[in-house]
Amino acid sequence: MSGTDDSGAVTIPVGTACGKVILLGEHAVVYGAPAIAAGIERGAWARARRIEEGPSRLSIPAWGVLVHEGDPGDLGRAFAALLTEAGISGREAPVAVEAEAQLPPGGGLGCSAALGVAVARAIEPGAPEAKLAARVAAWEGVFHGNPSGVDAACAANGGCVLFTKGTGVEPIRIGAPLHLCIGNSGTSSSTKEMVESVARLRARKPDVARKTFDGITALVRNARLAIEAGDTFALGRLMDLNQMLLSGLFLSTPEIERLCGLARDAGAFGAKLTGAGGGGCVVALVKGEEAAEPILEAWRSAGFEGFTTSVLRVERADVALGGAP
Ligand code: MEV
Repeated sequence: MSGTDDSGAVTIPVGTACGKVILLGEHAVVYGAPAIAAGIERGAWARARRIEEGPSRLSIPAWGVLVHEGDPGDLGRAFAALLTEAGISGREAPVAVEAEAQLPPGGGLGCSAALGVAVARAIEPGAPEAKLAARVAAWEGVFHGNPSGVDAACAANGGCVLFTKGTGVEPIRIGAPLHLCIGNSGTSSSTKEMVESVARLRARKPDVARKTFDGITALVRNARLAIEAGDTFALGRLMDLNQMLLSGLFLSTPEIERLCGLARDAGAFGAKLTGAGGGGCVVALVKGEEAAEPILEAWRSAGFEGFTTSVLRVERADVALGGAP
């Protein structure tokens, strides 16, 4: 919350968080399988200040969005859930929060988690990690229904991590730099709906789901070894195989397949959807910065936007936001 510095000037704390890509393991992670995720440079920030009169409000000016605590939409409900968990709900201690995200909403890059972490950090900078985790879990519960916690863990910590629901994050030592191209399929999707669609498939065909999740688990374990060994070629092949298994769960779209195909043809080691699927972004692994340009050009020519990123180093190895057990 706002305070004063040594000169008496009012200071407004800024909470920041990063976006993420899931390199392997999305969806299976909801059912206890490990996933490998990495923080990216694009993310979110928020700043908070006390106001005289409630209700509390959250604005995202770049999106033309303003919600109040208690508003019926997802954002208003998520904001209210976070404030309630933080114990500052109600009209006694209202806050005004302003936030911004450099991530496409519903794009699979952890936009909602990054905003949640940034808002939680702005409201109480330096809050203990367990409290931060509970507040972000309350926020994410509104958007995701049954989140594994991988997005929130990455938003808070960055780095390249192995995430397991209920256990939290284990940093992965990167043997060689990971250069990524992110391509946007141009359509967004609801993580909650995609997670629910996998849950329905699992209820109808438990054997198919179990075998798929076992397969993804094996890919993730091998991918971890490949990352540590700096074997980006092998990592790319494992990402391709993960994409095949995700397609088998009906999570891919023609645009996602097109983006992946264009990236592979233009020299990517591997490409797959990232996050919930059903739209959103793909991640392609490339050899180096120069190798990214032909891929971005191929996407541009086909009408898709993209950008490059590299994996952030772990800067806060002391923190580990676990998902709800
Ligand atoms: C969304 O970024 C990743 C999913 O596995 C959902 C989750 O883990 O909460 C689809």
